[in-house]
Amino acid sequence: MVNKVPVLTLDGPSGVGKGTICLMVARELGWHILDSGSLYRLLALSAGSEADLNNVAQLADLARDMQIEYVTSGDALGIYLRGVNVSEAIRTEMTGVLASKVAAIPEVRQALLDKQKAFAQAPGLVADGRDMGTTVFPDAELKIFLTASAEERAKRRYKQLNDKGIDANLSQLTVELKERDERDSTRSASPLLAADDAIVIDTTSLDIEQVLNQVMQLVKQRFG
Ligand code: DC
Repeated sequence: MVNKVPVLTLDGPSGVGKGTICLMVARELGWHILDSGSLYRLLALSAGSEADLNNVAQLADLARDMQIEYVTSGDALGIYLRGVNVSEAIRTEMTGVLASKVAAIPEVRQALLDKQKAFAQAPGLVADGRDMGTTVFPDAELKIFLTASAEERAKRRYKQLNDKGIDANLSQLTVELKERDERDSTRSASPLLAADDAIVIDTTSLDIEQVLNQVMQLVKQRFG
């Protein structure tokens, strides 16, 4: 299927800064944004910490039936589940770990596919995730894959948490990131992988402005 709506996919591992870059690019272009990780986080939250991850059919049903709403107000994006604002609740470490587990289930990924494709609306879409370029939008006109060393990503997360006044342990964050990378990269269903036609940007020694500049340059080349 050819995408009528222009789509930019931005994939990469946890903590690489995709979310920030996607927001900045989407704002600059006036395009829609798909934070696909939030769908896995919403499912994890819906299922709850006691989720029976073996009950695949039930999880897939839950994934299809989730009542989700994304509401933009100013610079903030409010995420609602069954009418309840869960923007903060889905960002906890516990939900992230459970999200990465539900994301490894092929039936869940399949169930969320249509929901994700539906985000491609005019005037364009910036899609943030792990498999945007490989699976969800294989025909996207521009695919970018952001990387950075696990140590650098852990440092960025550490700083982010510190800025919010949250205590964190850098070596523990590094270990957790590596564990999540391992789980996201080695699963058989849509593993974290750059699409063959993706442009890879190693951001280890770049700051956010430098990454944004490189991405915007590619966007201008591709979309004019
Ligand atoms: O980007 P994030 O941390 O919000 O993603 C949460 C989890 O969901 C993460 O462990 C990887 C998974 N995920 C995925 O498998 N595919 C995507 N397209 C996006 C996220």
